[in-house]
Amino acid sequence: CYPNMICVLTTGIAVTFCIILPCLACLKILVLNRKWRRGSQKVIGFFHPYCNAGGGGERVLWCAVRAIQESHPGVKCVVYTGDITSTASQILNKASSTFGITLSNSVDFVFLRRRRWVEATRYPILTLLGQSMGSVWLGVEALLACPPDVFLDTMGYAFTLPLFKYIGGCRTGCYVHYPTISTDMLNVVECQNDSFNNRKLIARSKLLTKCKLIYYRAFAFMYGVAGRCSEAVLTNSSWTLNHINQIWKCQQITSIVFPPCDISGFLEIPLTRKPTQDILGEKYEGKLIVLSIAQFRPEKNHSLQVESFHKFLSICEDPSKHLLLMVGGCRNEGDESRVAELKSLISKLNLQEKVEIRTNISFGELKDLLSVAHVGIHTMSNEHFGIGVVEFQAAGVIALANNSGGPKMDIVKEIQGCQTGFLAHDVTTYSEALRDIYSLTVEKRTEILGSARAACKRFSEQEFKQHFLAAISPVLVSRPKTE
Ligand SMILES: *[C@@H]1O[C@H](CO)[C@@H](O)[C@H](O)[C@H]1NC(C)=O
Ligand SMILES: *[C@@H]1O[C@H](CO)[C@@H](O)[C@H](O)[C@H]1NC(C)=O
Ligand SMILES: *[C@@H]1O[C@H](CO)[C@@H](O)[C@H](O)[C@H]1NC(C)=O
Ligand SMILES: *[C@@H]1O[C@H](CO)[C@@H](O)[C@H](O)[C@H]1NC(C)=O
Ligand SMILES: *[C@@H]1O[C@H](CO)[C@@H](O)[C@H](O)[C@H]1NC(C)=O
Repeated sequence: CYPNMICVLTTGIAVTFCIILPCLACLKILVLNRKWRRGSQKVIGFFHPYCNAGGGGERVLWCAVRAIQESHPGVKCVVYTGDITSTASQILNKASSTFGITLSNSVDFVFLRRRRWVEATRYPILTLLGQSMGSVWLGVEALLACPPDVFLDTMGYAFTLPLFKYIGGCRTGCYVHYPTISTDMLNVVECQNDSFNNRKLIARSKLLTKCKLIYYRAFAFMYGVAGRCSEAVLTNSSWTLNHINQIWKCQQITSIVFPPCDISGFLEIPLTRKPTQDILGEKYEGKLIVLSIAQFRPEKNHSLQVESFHKFLSICEDPSKHLLLMVGGCRNEGDESRVAELKSLISKLNLQEKVEIRTNISFGELKDLLSVAHVGIHTMSNEHFGIGVVEFQAAGVIALANNSGGPKMDIVKEIQGCQTGFLAHDVTTYSEALRDIYSLTVEKRTEILGSARAACKRFSEQEFKQHFLAAISPVLVSRPKTE
């Protein structure tokens, strides 16, 4: 056994010294050469290989680029993207049409051809490791094409951070939406549950579970090492912050910068409620509306809403006045069968006259409903964020949300000692909260609505800009020469 070990060790050392180190040294020389030829204008590189996707992560990217452009006019912003089928102006136009964010033309794009190396489908096994190594390979392409002075990873490719820090000589920062691996995922494997990250085959076998755990732990360790190469770590919520702190163990440099949410349309809605009949028709005259907005997905727990409302009717003063209106998208047959189940629950509880379901309504209708509703109900456990709850707050609807996850940690928080909504956790507490909300005095109600509207502005674009710039300011200054 011993000679074998020695053999493996010497080979390892030999490979490191004769192949890996010289390669890295060559890469570093190439990068330094490019940097020197590039001139002296400061370059900030945003690593966002899917920058044309038009999702929430892209809104963060464009708001971040705009914040830098507005506050540091002399700096050049470069976006590394793999969207080689689009042109720079197409990408900028899409940012403007999707998010209403216009950027000056001084943003440059570096188009990367190796994006297929980070696609999950490429790695049927060891997906996390494969994608991470792929991202380094993609990062090398980015680094050689345009070495930046400051490198910001905005898509969660943490393994690019050491590359840019040590080979590229960059200051580094990252914005994390979601941890690549979390302690939750480790627990699923440890408890031998089958889940999206754990196949039945592995869950059934003790040996395979052991191997997978070793792999996950090793990966989590490397993920932490890579993450700590970042000098500023920005996370999008308390949930993400907690997970990153657990795995990266770098509390001193992490902070929360909430992503910018587009709530301007909801802020226009007056706080005083419009008469229900004006919006919904004569039939609804004098009705007080509890509004639920959620796709008909299982985790949203619509049945809890119906049951809580049923119980509320039995304890409120005048049950004839109240109406529960459930709206949401129906994506597929699964959702439709859930709606059917919900309808049968409604008739079982004899609530046909008191509960209404509307699917696939338009944005205009949604705004109308938000201008008449008094209470907005949300019943999903451990939601990472809960944009719907923010929309209630913005629209002047009193939010009643589940006491966990984002609503608890980030959204329905007191500001300046004033309540911004209600939290509950089961049929009894939801029904009692509904009763309490409808017994609020006008003054108290106005106070809650006012502070809720103030609170939701923490998720506005202006707040994002301010906090983003503050959080990355340490990496925007050049490193002192002596270092
Ligand atoms: C943070 O990002 C994750 C993943 O995209 C998302 O599920 C979550 O809602 C985001 N949080 C906020 C505050 O937008
Ligand atoms: C694994 O499954 C069991 C039973 O379904 C459940 O009680 C447990 O909480 C699960 N553990 C994790 C970490 O998901
Ligand atoms: C709702 O819209 C989706 C697609 O947007 C469609 O597939 C579905 O059939 C619609 N459902 C209903 C009930 O209208
Ligand atoms: C809501 O939050 C509590 C935690 O206080 C949790 O135990 C409960 O199951 C959650 N879920 C729902 C749907 O109420
Ligand atoms: C819905 O909420 C109730 C009460 O909190 C809980 O017991 C139940 O498990 C939840 N159902 C789902 C699908 O989350």
